[in-house]
Amino acid sequence: MSEQYTPLDELGTPLPRAAQTRVSLKIDGQQIQVDAGSSVMRAAALMGINVPKLCATDSLDAFGSCRMCLVEIEGRKGSPASCTTLVEEGMVVSTRSDQLEKLRRNVLELYISDHPLDCVTCPTNGDCELQDVAEELGVEDSRYGLHGSNHQQATKDESNPYFTFDPSMCIVCYRCVRACDDIQGTFALTVDGRGFESKITAGQMESFMESECVSCGACVNSCPTAALEEKSVIELGMPEKSTVTTCAYCGVGCAFKVETRGDEVVRMTPYKDGKANEGHACVKGRFAFGYTSHKDRITTPMIRESIDEPWQEVDWKQAIEFTARRFREIQTEYGRDSIGGITSSRCSNEETYLVQKLVRAGFGNNNVDTCARVCHSPTGYGLKTTLGESAGTQAFDSVAKADVVMLIGANPTEAHPVFASRLKRRLREGAQLIVVDPRQTELVDSPHIRAAHHLQLLPGSNVAFANAMAHVIVTEGLADEAYIRERCEIQAWQDWSGFIRGEENSPEHLQAVTGIPAAELRAAARLYAKAGNAAIYYGLGVTEHSQGSTMVMGIANMAMVTGNLGREGVGVNPLRGQNNVQGSCDMGSFPHELPGYRHISDPDVRGLFENEWQVKLQPEPGLRIPNMFDAAICGDFKGLYCQGEDIAQSDPNTHHVETALKALKCLVVQDIFLNETARFAHVFLPGSTFLEKNGTFTNAERRISRVRKVMPSKSGKEDWEITVDLANALGYPMNYTHPSEIMDEIARLTPTFNGVNYAKLDTLGSIQWPCNEAAPEGTPTMHVGEFVRGKGYFAITGFVPTSERSTRKYPLLLTTGRVLSQYNVGAQTRRTKNTVWADQDLLEIHPVDAEDRGISSGDWVGIQSRAGDTVLRAVVTEKVQPGVVYTTFHFPLTGANIVTTENSDWATNCPEYKVTAVQATRVTQPSEWQKQQAVFNRQQKEFLDKARKSGA
Ligand code: SF4
Ligand code: SF4
Ligand code: SF4
Ligand code: FES
Repeated sequence: MSEQYTPLDELGTPLPRAAQTRVSLKIDGQQIQVDAGSSVMRAAALMGINVPKLCATDSLDAFGSCRMCLVEIEGRKGSPASCTTLVEEGMVVSTRSDQLEKLRRNVLELYISDHPLDCVTCPTNGDCELQDVAEELGVEDSRYGLHGSNHQQATKDESNPYFTFDPSMCIVCYRCVRACDDIQGTFALTVDGRGFESKITAGQMESFMESECVSCGACVNSCPTAALEEKSVIELGMPEKSTVTTCAYCGVGCAFKVETRGDEVVRMTPYKDGKANEGHACVKGRFAFGYTSHKDRITTPMIRESIDEPWQEVDWKQAIEFTARRFREIQTEYGRDSIGGITSSRCSNEETYLVQKLVRAGFGNNNVDTCARVCHSPTGYGLKTTLGESAGTQAFDSVAKADVVMLIGANPTEAHPVFASRLKRRLREGAQLIVVDPRQTELVDSPHIRAAHHLQLLPGSNVAFANAMAHVIVTEGLADEAYIRERCEIQAWQDWSGFIRGEENSPEHLQAVTGIPAAELRAAARLYAKAGNAAIYYGLGVTEHSQGSTMVMGIANMAMVTGNLGREGVGVNPLRGQNNVQGSCDMGSFPHELPGYRHISDPDVRGLFENEWQVKLQPEPGLRIPNMFDAAICGDFKGLYCQGEDIAQSDPNTHHVETALKALKCLVVQDIFLNETARFAHVFLPGSTFLEKNGTFTNAERRISRVRKVMPSKSGKEDWEITVDLANALGYPMNYTHPSEIMDEIARLTPTFNGVNYAKLDTLGSIQWPCNEAAPEGTPTMHVGEFVRGKGYFAITGFVPTSERSTRKYPLLLTTGRVLSQYNVGAQTRRTKNTVWADQDLLEIHPVDAEDRGISSGDWVGIQSRAGDTVLRAVVTEKVQPGVVYTTFHFPLTGANIVTTENSDWATNCPEYKVTAVQATRVTQPSEWQKQQAVFNRQQKEFLDKARKSGA
């Protein structure tokens, strides 16, 4: 019956959870049927009836404090609050009457008596719920006077770089407190005092910056007045236009409204209908967009003959012709296979697809690889082998149905914060958590959350851990035999269960390897296996190892043996680092795979592409990134087109990478800044930010979402157009006029994308692939009823210790990770105010190891490995265990990768970033490498400045 009404955008209270029945009631004389458990306010809003409200919003459970939403209900005394009153069968409700208006006005006048009603000069004028209610009720003044005791002299808290808290504007509706608790899960805000004295405060009467606040902005979104307001709105004024797009940071893929005035971004607000984030965001996506207009942006193409020469600014035509000529000359002299390309997970699907097409069809080889090589390539290999598809199995909202969550080698509160908030909510509801991590991450013990088990394994022992878990499950009779018989290959199961039962896989036997007490591991295995729904979420702590692919298969084995695949609340879920890691892999960026993970050696698949692309393709896989470096050093590989990826900073063993880059005759970097790699480049092609182009990103849930252009490209070209121009200059014609045409081609050629197009994306908002005839609106949960490969495959996962071990010379194991405020190599976030939270990489070291070395927090510490050495400041902390040190890799001058080695995953060459044997010593000056880098950086900056001056 509700179909006849036009619902309001804001429904006042959330959708009731797990509603089983419907209830009929009458509101203002009209009949409606709604889910049982709905509030009267929500029912009215579904009919398009707006009940005045201040403390209610549909992203938070009703609170009932403002008394603005009063209604009358037949047969009931008084005027109940509609936000806290649930619908009942046959209820008859009135939302309007003279008495109600009088009551509401009275309440509002009390609010106004303590509020500076200076709407005309207020930054939020026109976007304020208090103002709306006052206008609706016709209240301009207060009988209680505006000059009595009030809070109007209260001091503003300007400590946060992105938003301000003005207590004089606060109506103490608790929305911010509830948003911080319920949505974000940080519990940074409280209400201090009672009655008239009550006021919102961060932490223990601290400023926002001093408190636990992580600057997610949820409180700012939920504030109905100007009390919590973005500083950008105060500075620039209210936005005029809004465009829905997708965050360009992490693999959560939050949907945002980009709100603009002209070509200036005023703010980014999380989009309520975005299915990945449901109206929530983190400090990066929400606030850290300043880099898009940073003065370091390069917007004019540049070329040079050698890296020892200054840059020369040129027009697009010259830059493209120069590049094409150099590439063709190299191929003539050194052969067809002497050049290649690298795609980036920061770029869109369409851009990535075009680069691999350019390499295969334009360069005539398969020398294309992606930065996913160095993060999640083992996920592709491991999940394809065991389950048949190289992707995570669930939608993020599936976690709301999990009873036990096992988090392996992932730190979502730092790296995937919006997913972390969903997870925390489920944990507060009672789901149990197992954290498998060498470090004490926040989720081990945080407000209202305590992990049932923290298995603090030693770096490098993942596979031993997974085998010990499976051993317990199989030998203690916890395997789901019925599921295995129905869903898995029986021979493989028998082989694997025989292997896993072996005593060498028992927790007791492996305790010395993993460092996990056997009894605790057994308890964790029982908890995981006996849960109704058990879900695994994992990160780079799983993949970036010499046995990364084996560990991914070990995870899939654990899920299969317990029957935890193929429905909601379970599954195997890789948390992808960058925004489009999933997409860059899907798009055929690997040297052995065409889009849709189809091997280049398959003649039928090749034929399909040859027909569409009108060119003959090479059947042999091309070079992976590490092979490109080796070949460059050997003199066989001479030209590289690198789109949006900073290999000089992000790849391991920086000495080796830099030697390779210096050996190239033509390095082409396409990026928005002169990044670390560009210091070695001969051509710089200025790229566009996500605000300046159209396209799509695919997040960790396989969700394809639109990226929409909100302003013209500062360089005059979107990135896909640059690749098109380069292809044409090389003599391979590309004729797209819009990225939607590229997606249409992808859909034609890729079975899992057959049903995807921009019109459908606009209608549905986003689509989780596979999307085709069998699943026209996409597939939230994979492997339902049957695995993509048919029967699930138990792969034998023998533990092979890494050769990277602690020795007398290098007695500590270095492992790496991220911080919330910085993103990946930091090129974007370092150019924002996020540096107030982290302005350098730090080395975490346990007090025992620190004391042995005379190191205190804040000291400069040199870390040396067999690959190189660097210097950074120490933090002495028990977050790491003795024998383990930890750092991040966001700052180029720290150069964490100067110490990481070339060890890599046996199947995919994903580097073993998570285990490097090092020594740490107290030092007083930068390392030799850092000194050389400082000189080199200065020289390259001068080359850039010269080019800019002569171009000006
Ligand atoms: S917060 Fe709202 S009601 Fe208060 S002055 Fe600003 S616009 Fe007016
Ligand atoms: S910004 Fe986020 S974390 Fe900080 S107080 Fe507001 S809701 Fe809490
Ligand atoms: S960085 Fe990740 S979690 Fe944060 S807003 Fe962007 S997509 Fe969402
Ligand atoms: S909106 Fe119902 S009491 Fe505030």
